[in-house]
Amino acid sequence: MSDNKSARLKSLDKDYNFDIHEGAVGPSVIDVSSLYAQTGQFTYDPGFTSTASCKSTITFIDGDEGTLLHRGYPIEQLADKGSFIETCYLLLNGELPSAQQLQEFETAITRHTMLHEQMNRFFHGFRRDAHPMAIMVGVVGALSAFYHDSTDINDPYQRMIASRRLIAKIPTIAAMAYKYSVGQPFVYPRNDLDYAANFLHMCFSVPCEDTHVNPVLARAMDRIFILHADHEQNASTSTVRLAGSSGANPFACIAAGIACLWGPSHGGANEAALDMLSEIGTVDKIPEFVARAKDKNDPFRLMGFGHRVYKNYDPRARVMQKTCHEVLSELGIKDDPLLDVAMELERIALSDEYFIEKKLYPNIDFYSGITLKAMGFPTTMFTVLFALARTVGWVAQWNEMVEDPSQRIGRPRQLYIGATQRDYTDIKTR
Ligand code: SDX
Repeated sequence: MSDNKSARLKSLDKDYNFDIHEGAVGPSVIDVSSLYAQTGQFTYDPGFTSTASCKSTITFIDGDEGTLLHRGYPIEQLADKGSFIETCYLLLNGELPSAQQLQEFETAITRHTMLHEQMNRFFHGFRRDAHPMAIMVGVVGALSAFYHDSTDINDPYQRMIASRRLIAKIPTIAAMAYKYSVGQPFVYPRNDLDYAANFLHMCFSVPCEDTHVNPVLARAMDRIFILHADHEQNASTSTVRLAGSSGANPFACIAAGIACLWGPSHGGANEAALDMLSEIGTVDKIPEFVARAKDKNDPFRLMGFGHRVYKNYDPRARVMQKTCHEVLSELGIKDDPLLDVAMELERIALSDEYFIEKKLYPNIDFYSGITLKAMGFPTTMFTVLFALARTVGWVAQWNEMVEDPSQRIGRPRQLYIGATQRDYTDIKTR
């Protein structure tokens, strides 16, 4: 990219010029890749609040407007009119599929849902009370020990097979992690079910009776997957890109993304948000917790609130809230005390000066926990479901990084504030 604008920098009494690149939409960038060579200085941006790490065509977020586009399509439209498997095709290929393309893609994914039978033994190495995310990190990383024929990242065909294997097998692995945690036998995927219905089947069916997947819950699950599919260069996606920049195989890169997503500030927030709502318990306790969230001396934060990019309502949270009400209604759950607490907490927080001034709004994790709990998932499975859905985003971003001719191994520098050089002293003299 080259634009005729440039940025001027005056540092240590010298003037420097750097190119400015414009995107299709959103903030332009100042290309500082030659800064160190020109000035002998680094930029400093811990947390990368002002740093664009790459060029991308996959997802665009406008944090001020609260908009999220996947390949240009608004998340609300994809969630309302599309399906998760169609969104996977869009994220991977850049365009919505024709009916034939979608049918071929869905068949290919369906045909990859089974796991190598020998991998079942991996699960039995974990304690029964192991957190399912620990199992996900271990088993997804272990895929590279079973699918050697799709680990050569320089072979486009192998990248395509590995991408499809990851998208297809992640629900099977997630369901197996759940079954293992509740001591029930693993349930094989079925080729006559769609992606979300198949996942619910593998989670909640048992060999002793025929189980019918509720189509309303399957549609809600599918929509929840769409909402979590991709989100620009968030922490876990950046982890996948950085791991991939060294040439690591795709299975290891996605395992690294799962590990990063686990943190309560990121994908672990849905589990933490539900635990927080449970701890609050009743509406009358809300003011005490809001006061704690505002107290600089109290590390407590309202989980499910705030976002690095969104300084407006997270568009996914609105769809998530609507889905939450649909699921509770379908299940005949009239007065869920947690939902009462969540809605009152949202009302209070959105009218509180502290949250208004810091532009803290509910994010996607605020309502997802209530929905998933109502569907029968334990809180420990919430981040697993986030990882399941985000796998397609990680895979699409990983492919874009590998195919970018300008990509190099990611290797940030630092501002060193430690000891300067000094000589070793004999222990007798210390
Ligand atoms: C996800 O990046 C992505 O796109 C992530 C994600 C995705 O799809 O991949 O959207 C998924 O991770 C959503 C976020 C889930 N996390 C949570 O809900 C955890 C609670 N939220 C926060 O921890 C926080 O808001 C973050 C981590 C999400 C964002 O942190 P930032 O951008 O680093 O902001 P910050 O921590 O610097 O906060 C700015 C100010 C601070 O106050 P001051 O120091 O300026 O006085 O806002 C305050 C914070 O104390 N603040 C909160 C708060 N979040 C921020 N105060 C109370 N409760 C909160 N939730």
